[in-house]
Amino acid sequence: MKFLVIGDIVGRSGINMIHNYLSKIVESEKIDFIIANGENATAGRGIKEKEMKELFNLGINVITMGNHLYYRKEARVLYETVERLLIPANITNIDGHGMNIQEKDGKKIAVISLIGEFGMGNNTEDYMSNPFIKAKELVQEAKSKNVDYIFIDFHAEATAEKISLVNYLKNDVTCVFGTHTHVQTSDEEIIEPGVAYITDVGMTGPRNSVLGLKTEIAIDRFLTKQRNRVYECSNNPGFLRSIIVETDDKTNRAIKITRYNID
Ligand SMILES: [Fe+2]
Ligand SMILES: [Fe+2]
Repeated sequence: MKFLVIGDIVGRSGINMIHNYLSKIVESEKIDFIIANGENATAGRGIKEKEMKELFNLGINVITMGNHLYYRKEARVLYETVERLLIPANITNIDGHGMNIQEKDGKKIAVISLIGEFGMGNNTEDYMSNPFIKAKELVQEAKSKNVDYIFIDFHAEATAEKISLVNYLKNDVTCVFGTHTHVQTSDEEIIEPGVAYITDVGMTGPRNSVLGLKTEIAIDRFLTKQRNRVYECSNNPGFLRSIIVETDDKTNRAIKITRYNID
């Protein structure tokens, strides 16, 4: 099978890229299943029902969230009711789904969302549990349900934490991909015995911005340390960052990972 994984979709520019290119990618690359991080879909912060539905209607099978899950109170009902919208499974102070299992072409596919502990703000123990322990629990649960493929979105800042997680799980999962930094890394590889890995898929959002934020506001925040200055998502035209993971349907292992970008 071929899986498309799209990195943090940021604001209208990011969603426009999905409108303009997703069906073309699916057709030309013969994609079977699509996962996207949507934590910045609504104006750069969080997700609302409108953008969530838009992304699902465009063909995305599972949307994952991240640390931006707190921005929109109205999203909490979505987290509780929409099984294909995932919040990190090791978040402890909000209810929602941390794993989704779907069937496609006779294969059972699990998607798991997790958040890292390093560089995500202080006092992480107040709102999250250990992602490694939670990952192991969910992988065991997925295997007990005879899942064929397991994809993990590890929404995290620290490279060592992400690389450690894939090595911790490598015998049992199909793909561990990083999100959150909004900057794509070029370290994609197949780790033995057949796990696709990339430290960060990167952002699908406005070009000439600071991770999606208007550049002048970002600079001002660093210059003046006015970190509370109002966030404004850039409206510049977008680029798309994604990976394509190919699996061997006999062994259920990942055999190829390719970065797929549109500028
Ligand atoms: Fe993000
Ligand atoms: Fe994030």
